[in-house]
Amino acid sequence: MIRFRLNDRSVELPDAAGETPLVYALRDPRVGDMTPKVGCGQEQCGACRVLVDGAPVYSCTLPSDAVGDRHVETAAGLDTPVRRALVEADATQCGFCLPGIVVAAEALFREDPSPEPAAIVQALDPQLCRCGSHPRVVRALVALAGSGLGEAPPTWSAAGQGARGARPDDRPLPPALVATPSLARWIRFPEPGRVLALTGKVDVGQGLLTALAVIVAEELDVGFERVSVLSGHTGHTPDEGVTASSLSIETSGAALRQASAWARKLLLERASERLGAPATDLAVRDGEITGPGVNERLDYWDLANEGLDAEIDHSVSEKPAQSHTLVGREGHRRADVAPKATAAAFVHDVPADLHARPVRPPSLHHRLTGLEVEVDAPGVLIVDGSFVAIAHPDEYEAVRLAERVAGAARWRSAGEAPWTPRIEASRRRAAEALPLRDGVPTRAEWRPTPTPHRARYTRPFLMHGSLGPSAAMARWTAERLYVECASRGVEPLRQVLARVFGMDAADVELRHVPGPGGYGHNGADDVALDAALVARAVPGRTVSMKWSREDEHAFEPLGPPMHMELGADLDADGRIATWTHDVYGYTHVTRVHPQAPGVDLLAARWLAQPFAPTRPRPALAPEVGIHRNALPIYRFADTQVTKHFLPDAPVRTSALRGLGAQGNVFAIESFMDELALAAGVAPDAFRRLHLAHDPRALAVLDAVLELAGGLDGPRGMGIARYKNRQGCAAVVAEVAVDEERAEIRVEHLWIAADVGRVIDPDGSRNQLEGSAVQAVSWCLKEAVEFDERGAVANRDWESYPILRFSEVPQVRTVLLDRPESEPLGAGEATVGPASGALANAVFAATGLRVRDLPMTPDRLRRVAAGL
Ligand code: FES
Ligand code: FES
Repeated sequence: MIRFRLNDRSVELPDAAGETPLVYALRDPRVGDMTPKVGCGQEQCGACRVLVDGAPVYSCTLPSDAVGDRHVETAAGLDTPVRRALVEADATQCGFCLPGIVVAAEALFREDPSPEPAAIVQALDPQLCRCGSHPRVVRALVALAGSGLGEAPPTWSAAGQGARGARPDDRPLPPALVATPSLARWIRFPEPGRVLALTGKVDVGQGLLTALAVIVAEELDVGFERVSVLSGHTGHTPDEGVTASSLSIETSGAALRQASAWARKLLLERASERLGAPATDLAVRDGEITGPGVNERLDYWDLANEGLDAEIDHSVSEKPAQSHTLVGREGHRRADVAPKATAAAFVHDVPADLHARPVRPPSLHHRLTGLEVEVDAPGVLIVDGSFVAIAHPDEYEAVRLAERVAGAARWRSAGEAPWTPRIEASRRRAAEALPLRDGVPTRAEWRPTPTPHRARYTRPFLMHGSLGPSAAMARWTAERLYVECASRGVEPLRQVLARVFGMDAADVELRHVPGPGGYGHNGADDVALDAALVARAVPGRTVSMKWSREDEHAFEPLGPPMHMELGADLDADGRIATWTHDVYGYTHVTRVHPQAPGVDLLAARWLAQPFAPTRPRPALAPEVGIHRNALPIYRFADTQVTKHFLPDAPVRTSALRGLGAQGNVFAIESFMDELALAAGVAPDAFRRLHLAHDPRALAVLDAVLELAGGLDGPRGMGIARYKNRQGCAAVVAEVAVDEERAEIRVEHLWIAADVGRVIDPDGSRNQLEGSAVQAVSWCLKEAVEFDERGAVANRDWESYPILRFSEVPQVRTVLLDRPESEPLGAGEATVGPASGALANAVFAATGLRVRDLPMTPDRLRRVAAGL
């Protein structure tokens, strides 16, 4: 018998579990501590770390019998100042990394209750965070250490104190309410003192549900803590498509605000009837009806207990911005953070009868030719065409079984050529040119305009690289399929799963359960099909399907490479007269869609009765995919932007945070600095020359320069308005370059943003900072490589390194409050500006213009050598 102390209890495991890595033993239902996570299984990410006799260890490789009778502590048991500091600071986004960070920090603070910031960073360096939450984590811990340097002072600008007033009731209804007009589908009063808001959007670590709760509480005049939000459950929540494009507050927030205004109005009308007082004389305080002469206690829940529903068919007045007491205020704590640090909270943690793993071919293009292997019960082997998977009641046995089956599988290549990480000239020549007219790609003739100033910029394939490999739970019962997954679009996925299994969509139910941050379209949908395929073979049993780290790296859809060619002509005054921007790329959008001709789920192509994926076609709407933010924020006499579409990517590509905006803005902002140099004008002044038409952008530019204290030194800036109509962000980056090692280090980022009306300032800062940090990681370190088989070569975190704690800059952010404006979305606004700012800072520091990402030491040396 293996015995050890786990937190404050004793644990006994059978000797047979001796080889089982501790993380699987802890997560076994007999022990049931789900806080250590399996992020990689290779001592590379830190998600599994626990304390053994006070020392942090990687529980993914430590055999259970090596623990002896020592004391194991996990984040679940560490109810300490460290965990409280991190949770109370909402020092996370998706939270998948949080338990490991709690453990690593706890070990440090036990040794030294007042560690220096450098010691904190060093202790956290083995912990990966993909969401870019590092600055918040460090600030929270530095504050706990007592140096006071950790505080991120609330940084609000007084900008935007313009006209405020009630949103008029002659405005069109938000489209989501037109699609789902029943009030009861959005707002309910389920029990005294509680309000339930329903949304089809899902929280992917961006704090969305908190912001929606703030909106509802504000509009209803109830306490924020009274509101719960149910999200992403087919048949229960409104169908709002996919959570994407930083639109959730703009769309679902607008719908819930209006639905709340309706609920408030209807309930006040009921109160008016009951009290015999005009509704206009009544007010609401935390759900209680007040007014002159109101002597009886009456609240929403008294009034709603006979049911509350209506067809929302026109807009009613919403609360004027100057009356807001919750929207835009600091201090709204996220409800999901504490559970993520202390308990089962992710789709990976859902209890299951069987644990499943896929057995993948070497690449997308390989097919199964032979599999001679016996799998004894209770193991299960599932083979459907070239889709191979196993299942076992014990999770670690499932891992071992998958390895054994993988060793027995033989595959043949379908003959795809090896792939290159960038878009070669031969492919660019074959691209379809689609010149933009009024922002819309057209099939007009493309006539390249020669310009004296020209530059070419590229980025490679990028990974989403979720910290937790994709996971889903599925169960078949009596011809019905139930799935829990981290999909961002449970309604479209339901339709497509129904199609794959030849069933009615009404017999498929999907519920969103939090997963690790995905940053666009990662494997979260694909794994749902994998889980359903396995569950079909074992009806009535609950199957938890989890990918390995290698599966995730090799088979998630990749962020596509981009190739941007920019040209310009300066007039006699040094202003840009002509601007050309040609952007080449593969599709950024291959999400599942019920109306798509193909099925865009990974395993569908491998089935014995396969479903081909949809052949990508160029998106022709404004600001989609490749041409997102290809139109510059600046105004020039002549602007020519052309999208060049490549239909045939031999690997799957799809939406990665910002889509084309990152590459396009990186190119635009780099080129603006190159032209400023040619014109002999300072970079900020040169931008102002071309931004006179856009006072809000100028205000953002002023704010970031004030925050940073100017551009002197090794600093650069970038600015863009996401999709040219959402949040406007400017970033100043300061770098230090180690000339001998050719290593770039980003020391500081200063961010200013106008994201319209700010609902939750801390949530907005979290998103702006996280996406800027992620962009720095892309720009400095990341590139997918391919092997001779055309398969992804980077299959772990060593071969695909991302930014670590020791490499993360200090970040400060200022928000420009615009209460008169609609909310504009913050989650992707900084990826482009941060990329441009970084390239410009590197030029300021070294005189080297790096136009190809990532800016690795090798790249820097090549640029220095003129290669
Ligand atoms: S380090 Fe153990 S799971 Fe990543
Ligand atoms: S918050 Fe760290 S990985 Fe998501």
